[in-house]
Amino acid sequence: MQDFLTRLPKAELHLHIEGSLEPELMFSLAQRNGVALPYGSVEEVRAAYDFDDLQSFLNLYYQGMAVLRTADDFFDLAMDYFRRAHAEGVVHVELSFDPQAHLSRGIRMDVQIEGLTKAMRLAERELGLTSALIMSFLRDRSAAEAMGVLDQAAPYWEMIDAVGLDSAELGHPPSKFAAVFERAKALGLPRVAHAGEEGPASYIREAMEQLDVCRIDHGVRCLEDPALVAELVERRLPLTICPLSNVRLKVVDRLDQHPLPALLEAGLTLTLNSDDPAYFGGGMLENFKACERAFGWSQETFIDLARNAIEAAFMSEARRDELL
Ligand code: HPA
Ligand code: ZN
Repeated sequence: MQDFLTRLPKAELHLHIEGSLEPELMFSLAQRNGVALPYGSVEEVRAAYDFDDLQSFLNLYYQGMAVLRTADDFFDLAMDYFRRAHAEGVVHVELSFDPQAHLSRGIRMDVQIEGLTKAMRLAERELGLTSALIMSFLRDRSAAEAMGVLDQAAPYWEMIDAVGLDSAELGHPPSKFAAVFERAKALGLPRVAHAGEEGPASYIREAMEQLDVCRIDHGVRCLEDPALVAELVERRLPLTICPLSNVRLKVVDRLDQHPLPALLEAGLTLTLNSDDPAYFGGGMLENFKACERAFGWSQETFIDLARNAIEAAFMSEARRDELL
């Protein structure tokens, strides 16, 4: 089964590239840039990754990314991830990045995008791995700031495949960003949003109705509203599920208690993803393997999940035909 899961062509639709920063790269970039780290060793960093909830993770996630300063740093971050993903049988990655988390530290947008897109081009040339770029807004900052970031990204609109919404969910409903997403829509940019990870099912409905998203990131709490589930099924709106993330952020106590079997049973369009692999105990393959251990799914189930991701991906029809 492990061989099968490795060979299965996997597309990853929910990946925060800053969350792919492994402690080893964190240390080498800290040294390269003269950034002081509050840790003495790689082991100390890993030991600190013991989270109670989303916010306790976000605190370390924003702290860790302080080592990213130059375009080369963003390039190395993404290229390191693409190489690991490729080795795990990942054929397409949709990486989200958080421009505000870098702008607020004085790192310009062009530095971020230049480094990431250079790695995306090299990964396609060297590894045959395709990718898409999702610019995410931080929902715990103001809508006005997000609007400013969208405007500031004007030179890069052509390079951005979608906009997203992430960071601390509770108290920051999708409706707060209705105007920003309306503008993104007017610009022809597809939209995705985190909803129903820690927040209620009503946030998923808001993301659908007020942000007109084509996918929901997480969405595990949709089961609390049967009418919403029926609508998600009817519209075949994909959910990007992140099994190990949900365990590490205590959305569920253990993977065998995860609602994944119920979500599948409901007929929802599901995909498996790693979210923040450096923080949550593994990449795509680890997530697939953990589901096999927890749920004993057949090869057919994994084939269906992998196909869902390819069908829901931002990729050319030629690439989709090649992968399906
Ligand atoms: N949820 C919300 N925001 C995030 C996450 C997440 O899992 N990872 C990085 N930013
Ligand atoms: Zn996420």
